[in-house]
Amino acid sequence: MTKTLEEIKSRALDELRNLNDLNEIEAWRVGYLGRKGTVTQLLRGLSSLPIEERREAGAAANNLKSLLEQALAEKQESLRKAELDKLVQQSRLDVTLPGHHVQVGRLHPTTKILREACAVFVAMGFEVVEGPEVEWDYYNFEALNIPRNHPARDMWATLWIDYQNEAGERPMLLRTHTSPMQIRFMEKRQPPIRVVMPGKVYRHEATDATHESMFYQIEGLAVDKGISMAHLKGTLYEFARRLFGRDRKVRFRCDYFPFVEPGVDMAIDCFICQGKGCRVCGDEGWIEILGAGMVHPDVLRRVNYDPDVYTGFAFGMGLERIPMLKYGIDDIRLFYSNDLRFLEQF
Ligand code: PHE
Repeated sequence: MTKTLEEIKSRALDELRNLNDLNEIEAWRVGYLGRKGTVTQLLRGLSSLPIEERREAGAAANNLKSLLEQALAEKQESLRKAELDKLVQQSRLDVTLPGHHVQVGRLHPTTKILREACAVFVAMGFEVVEGPEVEWDYYNFEALNIPRNHPARDMWATLWIDYQNEAGERPMLLRTHTSPMQIRFMEKRQPPIRVVMPGKVYRHEATDATHESMFYQIEGLAVDKGISMAHLKGTLYEFARRLFGRDRKVRFRCDYFPFVEPGVDMAIDCFICQGKGCRVCGDEGWIEILGAGMVHPDVLRRVNYDPDVYTGFAFGMGLERIPMLKYGIDDIRLFYSNDLRFLEQF
């Protein structure tokens, strides 16, 4: 009996040592320790032994059983570990694989031109200030010499806010230009003033390739003793050259805005055809880019500046116009329709 046990033991252990997958090991377990396995049979056979032998043989057989069970557990454990190691090996970082492409965001073309324009004025000593997009009639019109029922209001198709004051008036609107910021700024500060004020403006307009109901303007204002039209021209000339190229020419023509006197519009010579006439400038050779003028004395008086002491110039321009001209964008609606195919080009 003991001899049989020894034989079984060394055979089983030998076999087990050479196994190296979990299925084979399971077969081995069934073969030795399963319901009909060698060791199980052996234990069952004990009952046929004479009493005297049974005790000793039983202990030895049980010993063998637990020995094999332990060997099995160890083998399973080491195999599992080996398998895990293999998996880790296989999943190691392969530095030769191409990397994942990370999408980097970018600035909106309007943000870019806004920053570019502000930087030019900052370099000339202007500060940058922002203000409210929901505005009072007073700032948007009245304080700018555009009284109620004045035909000049027709220049700005206005979006009114549905709000009535005690007098039954509707004095609130979405600002139609950034010029109300001239008043707000002058109310708060005393000259000398050099400031640019960019931001969104709104118009009650049917949209088309050149009209949006929301777009950006940048407003400029300089007030001091002795500010003249020469300062206006010098400043805007420099701006045009920095944004559109050093050899730009500018042209000033008379224009009407109720809050400046005299009022002008400024054009640059077409940077595509150098003024000869082309599709971009509509065969004009000139491209109008902004409105400007000397701050009207009545506007200065309204903010308690003495027009005999102080004078100033102001200008306002649409921002989208600039990248449209620069990059040949033929529809302003592209800017705010969130089409990545458009936006990713900038
Ligand atoms: N606010 C004017 C407009 O929107 C432009 C302008 C600003 C003109 C400042 C003169 C001075 O058309």
